[in-house]
Amino acid sequence: MTLIDGKATATAIKAEIAAEVARMVADGKKRPHLAAILVGHDGGSETYVASKVKACEECGFKSTLIRYEDDVDEATLLEAVDRLNRDEDVDGFIVQLPLPRHISEQKVIEAIDYRKDVDGFHPINVGRQSIGLPCFHSATPAGIMTLLDRYNIPTKGANCVVLGRSNIVGKPVATLMMQKGYPGDATVTVCHRATRNLEEVCRQADIIIAAMGVPGFVKGDMVKEGATVIDVGTTRVPDATRKSGFRLRGDVEFDEVAPKCAYITPVPGGVGPMTIVSLMRNTLLAGQKAIYK
Ligand code: GUN
Repeated sequence: MTLIDGKATATAIKAEIAAEVARMVADGKKRPHLAAILVGHDGGSETYVASKVKACEECGFKSTLIRYEDDVDEATLLEAVDRLNRDEDVDGFIVQLPLPRHISEQKVIEAIDYRKDVDGFHPINVGRQSIGLPCFHSATPAGIMTLLDRYNIPTKGANCVVLGRSNIVGKPVATLMMQKGYPGDATVTVCHRATRNLEEVCRQADIIIAAMGVPGFVKGDMVKEGATVIDVGTTRVPDATRKSGFRLRGDVEFDEVAPKCAYITPVPGGVGPMTIVSLMRNTLLAGQKAIYK
């Protein structure tokens, strides 16, 4: 069994990005600039955004954090998006999700200029990804593909089972796994609440990508010998032994599943760090106007 080290891979890629930024700056170009809008004080969102700001520093990017309280109205948020769309110094920006219930996430996402949408959530980027055109790929799926690539995990003709059909992970990673060429060319099955015989479907999988947000859902008897298991789950569960009072749990029952695997990602330290690094890569591409002019 090989443990896929997302943290080490992310560190290596951040160093590659920092070297590229140093070259850009030496050539007289400006540093890539990522902005983030954070609404409220959700613990998970605070952690993610703090990690993104830190990753910007490591990559040599400029970063700006714009904060609003939970009771901000939709119009104010849409104005902030519009200002970032027009700010020539900002190459890319994200609006951290989830947003409070009185704000339409879809409306906010669609207000973002797709050329600055480094999360890859705008329908133009989603659509371009689905037909294989250059675009900003959403960060978690892109991070998973980079791990498969860097570990040379075979995907051609593989049975890939995706658990979960979210717009952020399940759907886009299914699209990428079936695209032409490596790391794609897989035969993809997407499972969700209405799937029949889900355990049997999982047992046929060469690659399982678990992205449902149900801690410990994938058990040892659902995985065949030699499979690759990618765990996207990051649920906070109470843990009195931790200073924070919680720990992160993946969607995979790691202790049961790992001994059967050829490759497996841990939680934490697997997909999570790669998500952030994919956002950094998208920001670099935005700064270089490499995808859209
Ligand atoms: N919330 C959970 N994942 C993400 C992400 O990748 N981007 C944003 N903006 N919000 C999220």
